[in-house]
Amino acid sequence: MNIVITGASKGIGFEAAKHLAAAGDHTIVAIARNEENLKQLKNACLHENIKAKVFPVPFDLGVLNGIETLLVKQILSFISNVDILINNAGVLVNKPFAETSLEDIQETISTNYLAPSILIRALLPHFASSAHVVNISSMGGFQGSAKFAGLSAYSAAKGAIAVLTECLAEEYKDSGFRFNCLAFGAVNTEMFKMAFPGHTAPLEPSEMGKYVADFALNQARYFNGKVIPVSSATP
Ligand SMILES: NC(=O)c1ccc[n+]([C@@H]2O[C@H](COP(=O)([O-])OP(=O)(O)OC[C@H]3O[C@@H](n4cnc5c(N)ncnc54)[C@H](OP(=O)(O)O)[C@@H]3O)[C@@H](O)[C@H]2O)c1
Repeated sequence: MNIVITGASKGIGFEAAKHLAAAGDHTIVAIARNEENLKQLKNACLHENIKAKVFPVPFDLGVLNGIETLLVKQILSFISNVDILINNAGVLVNKPFAETSLEDIQETISTNYLAPSILIRALLPHFASSAHVVNISSMGGFQGSAKFAGLSAYSAAKGAIAVLTECLAEEYKDSGFRFNCLAFGAVNTEMFKMAFPGHTAPLEPSEMGKYVADFALNQARYFNGKVIPVSSATP
């Protein structure tokens, strides 16, 4: 399969890419800003599967007007179509709402919502007939869930990507494409430490990465337009 994954330089995205590489001879286009980390990802994938085809694409998804041109051109230089798109890249600002600057809000909305929206739109003409889009949200953006002070911009952006998923599944329901959204609970990554300093999450990035890889590869037949909470916390 031809797989595009964003936010693959560390955390859950890095681990998901490794599990995708281990799961078969897939071609993986791995996007993030940190080029060195993406090179390490490629080596880690080759360690999992000597036949792994991993193409690092260093790109800042905050540069929205480059997505449809520069980024898509680079993606299509490695793969002719897209079977799986995992919009995993994310950024979190942890500040009281009153101290949240315009730049904070713009960066949070751009990375977590606008960039995936534009990337989906730009790749639509290149989707394989049964393409599966997996958007990554958060329990903070899951309707009716417990909310946390300081995470307003982040949680609102994650809510937006969840609703976009439902809308696209409806709009493209006759196309064969599938759109789903995973709303993660806490996972021990750099982002989690920013959100909840001094706390430990119940899951490690490798465990969630494996879940994402399995879901993206195997669950499109069973889910479409679903926002799925992936969390063991109650309620
Ligand atoms: N960890 C949790 O508890 C948790 C809970 C709920 C949801 N999530 C979601 O899970 C996803 C992965 O998070 P994580 O915990 O693994 O976070 P992480 O360790 O901070 O990784 C975030 C990834 O996003 C990439 N990224 C951020 N801004 C980018 C930009 N402008 N352009 C390109 N790539 C960018 C980062 O790469 P570069 O810095 O190299 O660009 C990195 O690869 C995110 O969408 C997050 O919101 C996480």
